[in-house]
Amino acid sequence: MTRPHEGAVLLRRLHPDPATLTPAEVVDGLDLAARAPADRPYVVLNMVATADGRATVAGRTAPISSLADRRLFHALRASVDAVMVGAGTARVERYGRIVRDPELREQRTARGLAADPLAILVSASLRLPADLPLLQDADSRVAIITASAGEVAGCAAQVSYLRPPPGQALDLAEMLGRVRTELGVRSILCEGGPLLNASLLPAGLIDELYLSIAPALAGGAGALTILGDVALAQPIDLELLWLLEAEGELFARYAVCSEHTPLSPGPSPP
Ligand SMILES: NC(=O)c1ccc[n+]([C@@H]2O[C@H](COP(=O)([O-])OP(=O)(O)OC[C@H]3O[C@@H](n4cnc5c(N)ncnc54)[C@H](OP(=O)(O)O)[C@@H]3O)[C@@H](O)[C@H]2O)c1
Repeated sequence: MTRPHEGAVLLRRLHPDPATLTPAEVVDGLDLAARAPADRPYVVLNMVATADGRATVAGRTAPISSLADRRLFHALRASVDAVMVGAGTARVERYGRIVRDPELREQRTARGLAADPLAILVSASLRLPADLPLLQDADSRVAIITASAGEVAGCAAQVSYLRPPPGQALDLAEMLGRVRTELGVRSILCEGGPLLNASLLPAGLIDELYLSIAPALAGGAGALTILGDVALAQPIDLELLWLLEAEGELFARYAVCSEHTPLSPGPSPP
């Protein structure tokens, strides 16, 4: 498999076994779909934070996201059936086509995946701007999880809706079950944001966390973290599966310890 555009980014694996890898080599052999439990897709969460835990600076992730971070999350996007995001993040970050790079789409097909992942948006209000680049991209397939009635008008993308039965509240566990059975999705990369994470993590619906730790401090009282304001009844334990480094930035892969989660790191990349 050729790996153009990657010459500039190499990551040093510090744990478990030292190696120098491209982003594609980091994710090669992950086979996240094979890890899916019977009742829902395997869900991995990718987030970036400063060393003091801030998830944004001036309301955006761009100031804390590096080239290596972006290459890694694009490599993860090239490894899953679907990419899921909360409506708040889609609106703020102006989500567009999930995998734009033709080389990454080729990598997906070489892995037996559809060229473009399904995009899943979670919205309570269905307040999604039709001019969102993702919704205006005719090549994108988008599933919107919502309990709201109606549809987003004027979309060019192929949009479908997943709703609970009338009168019932949105239950993300049930919805993820239907994403598996009705849409055939076995693996999901969740890209946040904090409010969506706060629903998924305590419910045991996240299997792994990929956390980029930017070598920076941002300060700020009450600053947004990757879990927002949620108060957990007890800490959720993580098990470190790998630790990578590039230009002082750390990239940790953790298993989220819950009854659903297999704890083995799977096959090692080359
Ligand atoms: N550091 C990082 O890696 C990272 C990653 C992602 C986002 N962010 C940042 O986080 C900020 C956005 O935070 P956020 O907490 O608002 O993001 P979010 O979780 O993406 O969006 C919140 C919205 O998503 C929908 N939603 C989330 N959970 C839901 C649930 N359980 N049921 C129904 N709807 C649900 C609702 O949509 P409606 O409002 O449409 O009802 C809700 O208002 C942005 O500044 C973004 O840049 C940082």
